[in-house]
Amino acid sequence: MNSIFIDKLNGIKTSRPPVWFMRQAGRILPSYQKLKESYSFREMMDNKQLAAKVTLLPISDLGVDAAILFSDILIIPESMGMKLEFTENGPKFHNAIMDMNNKFSPDLSKLNHVYNNIEEVKKISSTPLIGFCGGPLTTFLFMFRGNENDKSFKSALKFFYSNQKESLKIIEQITEISIEYVKKQIDSGIDCFQLFETYCGIIPSEMYKKIILPFSKKILNASKEKNTPSIFFPKNFNDGLKYIDSSVCDFVSIDWNLSLDYARSIVDDEVGIQGNMDPRVFYSSRKEIDKYLKTLINFGENNQDWIFNLGHGFIPDIDYKKVIHVVDWIKETDWNR
Ligand code: CP3
Repeated sequence: MNSIFIDKLNGIKTSRPPVWFMRQAGRILPSYQKLKESYSFREMMDNKQLAAKVTLLPISDLGVDAAILFSDILIIPESMGMKLEFTENGPKFHNAIMDMNNKFSPDLSKLNHVYNNIEEVKKISSTPLIGFCGGPLTTFLFMFRGNENDKSFKSALKFFYSNQKESLKIIEQITEISIEYVKKQIDSGIDCFQLFETYCGIIPSEMYKKIILPFSKKILNASKEKNTPSIFFPKNFNDGLKYIDSSVCDFVSIDWNLSLDYARSIVDDEVGIQGNMDPRVFYSSRKEIDKYLKTLINFGENNQDWIFNLGHGFIPDIDYKKVIHVVDWIKETDWNR
């Protein structure tokens, strides 16, 4: 496979940073919005032809260097027996964790459609494919969400702080299932695995390091064991990034709270950096976007171990033409390498 993204993951020097975006598959593309008029999110996720098509839309429409599987992190709790609905306002569980007495009935065959979708993508395209799952803390938090409008995770955090032992038992179960899930994604054909710990920063970074990071590491190591590169996205981990070394992951994806240079200075040398454009910059004019892009040249010149990405996923109402402009700029710029 001739791919700048795969070369980068393998530590090979490239003339520019590879580029892909978190949440590039759903959200901003008119071609995706058009499909949404005919199919629900669930229908697209469950049908391998549709899921493969949506996965590959950003390759043709944006020109990115890698595809991310069209799926969602919450199908892990669903495979544990929770009843998941994607409503207009976001996901919710009809039997949130409090209603289950923490008794799960895992049926991992509920994840089989994901493996079929991966095989379908690999059958029709040679583009590198990123598989993923949710970080153990992020998944745990959502499992308490019985109301899609609850964005604060109040009941999850109350349970976590008042009943840590029981919380860790649940997190351990999430971890075991996630490990199985990663391995099967790899067997089905993914080229890289990313762990989305979007709510890492909801607890103090020392606390995350001490009690959750060992679980995240286990999931990421499942990828390492199968010789598949891993990317960890611990959003808002801040100075906790100093705990990220090659025993955790191959690349760490950073948000916009730290500069690329500062993140580089605290992350272990053997780990590459991914990130960290603030997606809200896409609301500004092309002139402002170009000003931001120019600030990256120095970092890109001096850091081979860097994948361009966002600091978090796209916001739905941005103009995708500005995204194409950014991808073209990255490809056409002379990075002095
Ligand atoms: O690029 C991609 O879109 C790839 C697929 C992908 C989805 N969700 C599709 C999706 C990925 C990688 C995710 C990850 C995800 N899901 C995270 C972690 C990353 C992040 O953005 O923070 C989280 C926290 C979730 C949980 C989730 N799923 C939420 C909060 C929502 C509602 C808001 C939204 O649109 O993101 C979802 C639904 C969801 N997941 C949709 C899509 C395309 C929208 C469903 C719809 O169109 O009805």
